[in-house]
Amino acid sequence: MTELPLTRIAVSRDKQLRIREAVSKADKLADLARLASLDDVEALTALLADPEISGPIYTLPSKINPHTVQSFIERHLAERERGEGLLMVSIDEVALSAYHDIQVWPQWGACELGGAVRRDRQNRGQGGSGALIAFNWLFEVIGVDLICETAALDNIRTARLLESIGFGCKGQIESQLSDGSTRASSYWELQRTEWQSRSNE
Ligand SMILES: CC(C)(COP(=O)(O)OP(=O)(O)OC[C@H]1O[C@@H](n2cnc3c(N)ncnc32)[C@H](O)[C@@H]1OP(=O)(O)O)[C@@H](O)C(=O)NCCC(=O)NCCS
Repeated sequence: MTELPLTRIAVSRDKQLRIREAVSKADKLADLARLASLDDVEALTALLADPEISGPIYTLPSKINPHTVQSFIERHLAERERGEGLLMVSIDEVALSAYHDIQVWPQWGACELGGAVRRDRQNRGQGGSGALIAFNWLFEVIGVDLICETAALDNIRTARLLESIGFGCKGQIESQLSDGSTRASSYWELQRTEWQSRSNE
């Protein structure tokens, strides 16, 4: 299994602490999403039960049911306390419309964002616009210098979305799934400096 991120630039102790503090205080992701709580077990289970949603995502439990989703939320709440992870959910008039899973490595000033949009909301540009909001928030509010992304080799929408935002594909890695098996993934990175120079274009 490949350990992420591939690019590792150690940050100062002060910066690590600032990132941990920003993560442990975060209760919403801009106007896009709010922190997931144990009250969301049923709704998140319903969202993730769709194999079109959970199938491509290696960081989700291998079996989706209220028990595994509760553990998934609890693990993220513990990660938030340590400043190392967040689970956020978006809600529309119907139900949970998306989830956002953020893994943070404060020592490298880096994070990974995963997630999915409910099936009836896909292919309408919402994944792309939500991702832009989330990446901006991760650089500006959480304060990371590097965002990395991983996707199954055949996940064309994710590849297009990331490359149109400016992520550079760094090749293939081996991802570990929650059942212990491994999967080949494509891997991308975006540095804060690259993000800033694109934002100034
Ligand atoms: C991946 C996902 C978040 C993308 O969100 P979305 O709202 O469906 O996608 P968008 O409409 O924003 O389109 C994203 C890109 O894919 C392209 N695209 C959309 N549908 C496509 C299709 N059927 N075939 C090829 N490309 C497609 C879009 O043109 C866009 O590219 P662009 O930025 O160059 O214009 C969403 O489809 C999803 O949740 N999928 C299931 C779970 C998943 O794969 N999560 C990501 C795991 S890393």
